[in-house]
Amino acid sequence: MHSNIINFDTIDSTNTYALEHFENLEDKTVITALSQTKGRGRFNRVWVSENRENIYLSIVLKPSKKDFLPNITQYMSVCCAGVIETYNVKAQIKYPNDVLVDNKKICGILCESYLKNNIIQGVVLGIGVNLNMPQSVLNTIDRPAVSLNIITGENINRQEFFNKLVNEFFNNYDDVIQNGFASFKEDYILRNNFLGKNVYIQQRDNDIKENFFAQKMDDNGNLVVIGNDGKEKTIFSGDIIL
Ligand code: BTN
Repeated sequence: MHSNIINFDTIDSTNTYALEHFENLEDKTVITALSQTKGRGRFNRVWVSENRENIYLSIVLKPSKKDFLPNITQYMSVCCAGVIETYNVKAQIKYPNDVLVDNKKICGILCESYLKNNIIQGVVLGIGVNLNMPQSVLNTIDRPAVSLNIITGENINRQEFFNKLVNEFFNNYDDVIQNGFASFKEDYILRNNFLGKNVYIQQRDNDIKENFFAQKMDDNGNLVVIGNDGKEKTIFSGDIIL
């Protein structure tokens, strides 16, 4: 089992803690909490984090080779999907790194860089997984969301899921740092729910949704699409809306 784990009962956000203490935390430290008071998502969204039987964790990563760090969120989505599948539940990945079950979000990933003098020192990779949420709380989330207990009809053991996820992540982590997207491309594509479809893409900094045909993933983990003008375009950031 992974040895470097810091457990909190309640914290503002495991990502915030990891960023604030980044320089004093060792590479591969896992920070976890039973609940968060200010759980954060991508695009400054709130990540609902009161439930004490979900996963809220952040991993401090400071590899010397940093070229493939941008692919680490996609790798984590593959790990999370793989663990969900051990409960006999089919998980899908929506570009770049959302994990969905029955087309509803079950897991979110937020990766933040730590910079010193404008130079990247590493990242904090945060993940939240809905394990044991009552349907009434899921209904309050502004986008379609689901929890593993609802799918299986049984309470999910948080510690067991946590151990599986952390082990799965570190099993092939070194390979991903060395070889990037290529080392898990097949597993990612196997679970995708967007290739070969017409999708809307919402770029990070504006609200405009553009329509594309999602053609393929390139070897760097970027989505290649075809626009209405017939031209190929590589999408480096943005969210897919199916
Ligand atoms: C998203 O889909 O918008 C990303 C959600 C990320 C949530 C996790 S929970 C643990 C870590 N701490 C946070 O404040 N956020 C991430």
